[in-house]
Amino acid sequence: MRRSVTRAPFGRTPAGEPVELFTLKNAHGLELRAITYGGVIVSLRTPDWSGRFADIVLGFDSLAGYVRGSPYFGAIIGRYGNRIAQGRFTLDGKTYRLATNDGPNHLHGGARGFDKVVWSGEPLETDSTVGVVFRYTSPDGEEGYPGTLRATVTYTLTDANELIVDYVAETDRATPVNLTQHTYFNLAGDGSGDILGHELTINADAYTPVDSTLIPTGTIAPVARTPFDFRTPTAIGARIDRDDPQLKKGRGYDHNFVLARSGPGLEHSARVTEPKSGRTLDVYTTEPGLQFYSGNFLDGTITGKAGHVYRHRSGFCLEAQHYPDSPNRPSFPSTILRPGEEYSTRTVFRFRVLTP
Ligand code: GLA
Repeated sequence: MRRSVTRAPFGRTPAGEPVELFTLKNAHGLELRAITYGGVIVSLRTPDWSGRFADIVLGFDSLAGYVRGSPYFGAIIGRYGNRIAQGRFTLDGKTYRLATNDGPNHLHGGARGFDKVVWSGEPLETDSTVGVVFRYTSPDGEEGYPGTLRATVTYTLTDANELIVDYVAETDRATPVNLTQHTYFNLAGDGSGDILGHELTINADAYTPVDSTLIPTGTIAPVARTPFDFRTPTAIGARIDRDDPQLKKGRGYDHNFVLARSGPGLEHSARVTEPKSGRTLDVYTTEPGLQFYSGNFLDGTITGKAGHVYRHRSGFCLEAQHYPDSPNRPSFPSTILRPGEEYSTRTVFRFRVLTP
């Protein structure tokens, strides 16, 4: 099969901005479609053990669905992935106020985060890969954040069936930055029920417990002897309904795992296997944390692609990032980017099939 990357119009935002769709195909027929609105991955088609392709990500058929209200399906999240307590932080002696768009807290960059803006898009081709480069300049003061932030996010599809996500950013004033990707996966195929039978492994000995508004308490807690121990493959649903105070607070899994790392490079952080299709997803990242979200807020009120109704836990997210609320937690790895520094992180999603 021939590798390809093509571009096509994907409608206009209510403000009239044109949105483009990029379609990437590798030599094995793996196909990723992503749009300039929010850098959203709108579909990702991979084979099962018998060679049958299916779309394995949740989303909408058209731009209207994303604009009308999406729980961050497939989107790039920024300037700050996850929550900042009370929408407030102090940096170099100055206190900044951000939108509180999740109860008392700031979530995923605010009212109009990077998931809701139109990025520029350019196709990218090398001898062995296809890709798309998305660029967005976030003005000084946008959503309350200091500094002009120039962000570049590149999706690269390789013939090893990897999706490489590269995040690069620079700023002209110190600012928190924590970029991530919010794709909801269902490895059995979009619209094929819940993800509770998927088997998950996370390379983490600890996680960050949260308060009732999902802000980390500051404790780094061992996963041993808790439902958060995914160090060996365990079905997502095996313990999700246990009477555990942390699971109650998250209404399931909605927690940051502290990845066990041996250095700052790209390391294996998680694996998910769907037993019936044999589809396996491996996640590698340079990030120190992984937010595992089990789709707890999906409640059947969203109708997505091909009329699929997204019921409780019909998709899961593995968001590689820094820990939530780091700007207010000096003990967590820093998320502050300063002028002259380059923000550069990488996350790789690798797709394979295990023959059942
Ligand atoms: C993240 C958050 C969740 C939720 C989802 C989207 O995973 O931690 O609480 O906001 O995004 O609904």
